[in-house]
Amino acid sequence: MTGLFISFEGVDGVGKTTQVERLRAYLEAHGRTVVVTREPGGTALGAAIRQMLLHGVNGSADIAPRAEALLFAADRAQHVAETIRPALERGEVVITDRYLDSSLAYQAGGRELTLKEIRDLSMWATNNLLPARTYLLDMDPAMSHNRLQHAEDRMESAGDDFQSRTRQAFLDLAAAEPDRFRVIDASQSIEQVWAAIEADIKTLLGSEDSKELA
Ligand code: TYD
Repeated sequence: MTGLFISFEGVDGVGKTTQVERLRAYLEAHGRTVVVTREPGGTALGAAIRQMLLHGVNGSADIAPRAEALLFAADRAQHVAETIRPALERGEVVITDRYLDSSLAYQAGGRELTLKEIRDLSMWATNNLLPARTYLLDMDPAMSHNRLQHAEDRMESAGDDFQSRTRQAFLDLAAAEPDRFRVIDASQSIEQVWAAIEADIKTLLGSEDSKELA
């Protein structure tokens, strides 16, 4: 059995964490070993990087765009090397709450760097590892923001324009790679969002099984 790599993406507060847990439970009930992880902060090094990215260093939240892009890429490089690739090599399912599309949407879509620069950086950092499936939970950031249960961090306080541009950047990425992405309307109920994911994962697992039989 080969590993399966799945990512969840979307602006802050769209309910990714809830759906990640639903998918974990579903896959475990179907006999798969599942690793649930996230970016930034999926490893010990990543947790230190996450702290810098979201809360700044020594009271200063001023991180230059290129430094920010490199920190997210460093987090991802460690995450792939330490957690994701080894699990996939063991034949497990890896579900990550955010992956490289977050860098493409937030660092290139919202701030001054180009999509190509960020993509090249991330592909280098991960040695070209892309998910087999990416669920984009899409909703208006003005609505999703109201759902956040905690105080805003540095990224979340970047403003409504930034959040709207980021949402659009995610939608553009999904349109460019329709085989990898599934866009799900996250303004629906938790049950409706899950039903859409469940229907898709069934198809995905079915096509995996038929590949193995072939
Ligand atoms: P997340 O862990 O989803 O936030 P929270 O735990 O507060 O729900 O992500 C933290 C922030 O980092 C989020 O605003 C998105 C941002 N981010 C990027 O800008 N680029 C990236 O590559 C990643 C992975 C996240």
